[in-house]
Amino acid sequence: MLTSSHKDARHSLCYINYLPIHLTPQMVLTMANILVTGGGRGIGRATALLAGARGWSVGINYTRDASAADRTVEDVQKAGGRAAKLKFDITREADVVDMFSAHESYFGTLSGVVINAGITAKSQPLAEFTTERLRNVIDTNVFGSYLCAREASRRLAKSGKKNRSIVFVSSVASKLGSPNEYVDYAGSKGAIDSLTIGLAKELGPKGIRVNNVRPGIIKTDIHDLSGVPGRADKLGNMSPLGRPGEASEVGEAIIWLLSPQASYVTGAAIDVAGGSLTKSHGKASKGSSGGHTPMVVREDCTTGITPPILAAVDFHTPISFRSQSWVSCIDCVRRTD
Ligand SMILES: NC(=O)c1ccc[n+]([C@@H]2O[C@H](COP(=O)([O-])OP(=O)(O)OC[C@H]3O[C@@H](n4cnc5c(N)ncnc54)[C@H](OP(=O)(O)O)[C@@H]3O)[C@@H](O)[C@H]2O)c1
Repeated sequence: MLTSSHKDARHSLCYINYLPIHLTPQMVLTMANILVTGGGRGIGRATALLAGARGWSVGINYTRDASAADRTVEDVQKAGGRAAKLKFDITREADVVDMFSAHESYFGTLSGVVINAGITAKSQPLAEFTTERLRNVIDTNVFGSYLCAREASRRLAKSGKKNRSIVFVSSVASKLGSPNEYVDYAGSKGAIDSLTIGLAKELGPKGIRVNNVRPGIIKTDIHDLSGVPGRADKLGNMSPLGRPGEASEVGEAIIWLLSPQASYVTGAAIDVAGGSLTKSHGKASKGSSGGHTPMVVREDCTTGITPPILAAVDFHTPISFRSQSWVSCIDCVRRTD
């Protein structure tokens, strides 16, 4: 039975493509039918477009940006898939249940769920966090993801689909800790890494695979929340591959994990981070310690961080001694290899 909020949800769905008449129920059972939380923008959108190009059905969840979700729905359809927008807040239990119900009432039995929606906040040390910020980050990235995972587990366990899986979007922050930027965010992604392992063990015997991707610095709107202009380019350019990643590069890994090609993969995490978790890369240059990324400091740098100190840290750690002059410090760091 539909609840009133479920009915509202149905009204909020648009651009629905109904099943082409030539599809048999058997064909429908083998087609991929996925729900992507936070599918309107960034990594979720890119994943939805790749799924659309494979002819999959995709529920596009969002919570605020309706026009972005509209664009994604339209583009998934242009790519060859079926899509619907689902306006629900993943931090609310009733919304999460209604979102899955709305999705299934339009596209039928789910085969996969991408638990991607997430937020960051202003870049600052823990001592400066407000309680509200802490609650928002944990509510969305941990509580919301757990609620979605619980609902996905219940639905996928009853699904008759052959290839069923859940893919979480974690972050390399879970390994790096994001000091002086977002230790709350990093911890929230650590929770997702643990959930991936535990849930893979719970659901494996039911034939449901559970994995995650850990993106590095990817060019999406999420960096705007940090308050550091040009953050994605500045940090991305310091990765071993020398650039930030594109959302579609993460989407490709998610699609593979969802696909039957990954049929023996569960409890795994794929780093899509341009090498940002490697301990060291490149050859050492004069003034740097062997094995660490060669760096130089601009002569006019006012941070007080001397070249020998800077040269002795891994390429991804300058943020760990961020001060008010962090931006100029990052500006003067250059890879020399
Ligand atoms: N970009 C990176 O460098 C990076 C790196 C590592 C991990 N990640 C992870 O990748 C995931 C996607 O990030 P992104 O970079 O694509 O971010 P984004 O471009 O800011 O997109 C975030 C999406 O999440 C949705 N969302 C946020 N709160 C929600 C809520 N309470 N209920 C439902 N939807 C909600 C947003 O909806 P609206 O459009 O309605 O606001 C939006 O569609 C996140 O989990 C993030 O932590 C990103």
